[in-house]
Amino acid sequence: MAESMKGLKRTARCAEITEEYIGKTVTLMGWVAKCRNKGGIVFVDLRDRSGIIQIVTESEGADKRWGSLKPESAIAVVGTVRRRSAVNPHMKTGTIEVSPTELRVLSEAQTPPFLIQNGIDTREDLRLRYRYLDLRRPELQHKIMFRAAVVEMIRQFLSGEGFLDIETPTLIKSTPEGARDYLVPSRVHPGEFYALPQSPQLLKQLLMCSGMDRYYQIARCYRDEDLRADRQPEFTQVDMELSFVDQDDVIDINTRLLTYLTGKMPAKMRELEFPEDLIKGIEKAHEELEAHGIGRITWQDAMDFYGSDKPDLRFGMKIIDVSDTVRGCGFGVFTNALENGGVVRGLNVKGSGDMGRKQIDKLTEIAKTYGARGLAYVQLKSDGTVKSSFAKFMTEDEMSALIRAMGGEKGDLLLFAADKFKVVCASLGALRLHLGEELGLIDHNEFRFVWVVDFPLLEWSDEERRFLAMHHPFTMPNEDDWKNIDSDPGSVRAQAYDIVLNGVEMGGGSIRIHMDDVQEKMLEVLGFTPERAQEQFGFLLTAFKYGVPPHAGLAYGLDRMIMLFSGSDSIRDVIAFPKVKDASDLMMDAPSAVDPKQLEELSLKTDVREDADPKGSDS
Ligand code: AMO
Ligand code: AMP
Repeated sequence: MAESMKGLKRTARCAEITEEYIGKTVTLMGWVAKCRNKGGIVFVDLRDRSGIIQIVTESEGADKRWGSLKPESAIAVVGTVRRRSAVNPHMKTGTIEVSPTELRVLSEAQTPPFLIQNGIDTREDLRLRYRYLDLRRPELQHKIMFRAAVVEMIRQFLSGEGFLDIETPTLIKSTPEGARDYLVPSRVHPGEFYALPQSPQLLKQLLMCSGMDRYYQIARCYRDEDLRADRQPEFTQVDMELSFVDQDDVIDINTRLLTYLTGKMPAKMRELEFPEDLIKGIEKAHEELEAHGIGRITWQDAMDFYGSDKPDLRFGMKIIDVSDTVRGCGFGVFTNALENGGVVRGLNVKGSGDMGRKQIDKLTEIAKTYGARGLAYVQLKSDGTVKSSFAKFMTEDEMSALIRAMGGEKGDLLLFAADKFKVVCASLGALRLHLGEELGLIDHNEFRFVWVVDFPLLEWSDEERRFLAMHHPFTMPNEDDWKNIDSDPGSVRAQAYDIVLNGVEMGGGSIRIHMDDVQEKMLEVLGFTPERAQEQFGFLLTAFKYGVPPHAGLAYGLDRMIMLFSGSDSIRDVIAFPKVKDASDLMMDAPSAVDPKQLEELSLKTDVREDADPKGSDS
């Protein structure tokens, strides 16, 4: 049924046709978005990635097939552009139409499994199975086109700053730190494996050793970890590394990159028909960046005030420490937590003092999913009465001191968590975000950046009974703190920084260790014997013996960056072919079993247990 396009050449894309073409003959190619037969005259919406143009047949003498065109078929149309009698102000091509003289059905479409249009609520797994059709939807197509445009802007900026685009291998050595590796078996070396890179970290450091000075790469990374809305097993980093720089240099260059991007994005976004409110938000962020740059907050302050190392600064409701106020009070939950080295902290939810019991119970449930054992509250009701889950354990003076410390006023709801620092931060941080959303305190068109600095170098793992690197083992410790590495390793800060946008970690990086003695000590603290360190990172440690420049870098999650700027809820919306929660690709049906011969060649045998997880569950 398919016809050839022989002899035809496309004049332009559908929505590139303007009034200047009126009276001219054009050749257009695209997909049938809509086909209406109105008393012998056929109206066809022809769609390609630029948009839609209307084709209108004459009442007589038109090709009979116009009336029965199947939606989503690929067609070619030759015709004359003319002015429309009924102007459509919502369309780029709303003042013109094409009167066809020739139709070729290049490929007829079957009935698609779902309607191809914006705002559809078809199940995501069905859309992912037919992702190529889903990608015909203008809103998704525009996000992918936006992504391509932003990558081009990034390349322009970085090459202008003297960065070299250098590729690094993706079959590399497995390293035990960080997430789980994806492994690739070697045919030539039976029983041995490559790993796919979790990031080009070590390779970009070696590029600094080789004198490349400034490197960047749009790099594919692979991590076998549990997926969430902002995590995929393979994702893309905008990865960079610089020599002879300090933290301020890296922060400066990246602040300028973000200023450049927010300056360039709006024009592209208008072209791609993004919501005007979102574009205005980016323009406002750009003005703010130009005038004031990006603020910094220490990791400690971020945890203390927002309960998170990626604080969402679009609204207030800071966490308040009342440990000193309640020390020695009559409420055992508070005093026990303090005696066990914990903290007591609270949130003042302004204007929510009359919240119902059910809602408070729901907040308690949320806190509990983050490890809290309960949520104590004081309701300062609008009628002047006070209701509290623990008033009976406190004297009136103790209660009024607590309310004062919280800045509590008539109409406020005060929520308290008493536990270890980590649990209190996690639960109050999550409650703050939940309430911010629920109470409408978040402007979804606002873009608030912040640099989080002074991360701890190490993080204690109860599971592994050892310290792990908070960023990675090559991050430079704070030079003043380093002397305490033996006496109090947990107190040593790192020269590491994250760029956070609207409560999402968009990127992160650090100054690297370039002294071999510090690097060796760091690996020792992380529990590596010198032999194992040599086995794992020997190539890096050796390189460090031949004149390594002080260097530093950063990597953005490109998918997250595009998700945030395009106002999307998930990184799946800005990745052409994403995977679902169980890391499978529904379209290609990957992963899949392979031919036994392939396994044999690789000297592999599988040992899949009967009760292993069934694959193929939906997102
Ligand atoms: P990090 O591990 O912080 O640092 O990764 C950098 C950024 O990559 C993004 N990211 C992800 N995006 C989608 N899916 C994932 N599974 C995923 N994991 C991470 C995040 C994150 O901020 N080599 C260091 C960087 C450096 O020090 O230069 C690194 O990989 O946005
Ligand atoms: P109880 O005396 O156990 O009924 O607790 C009184 C109040 O304290 C209830 O509202 C509990 O939800 C709350 N509560 C219990 N444990 C904690 C905790 N660790 N932090 C904050 N509040 C708690």
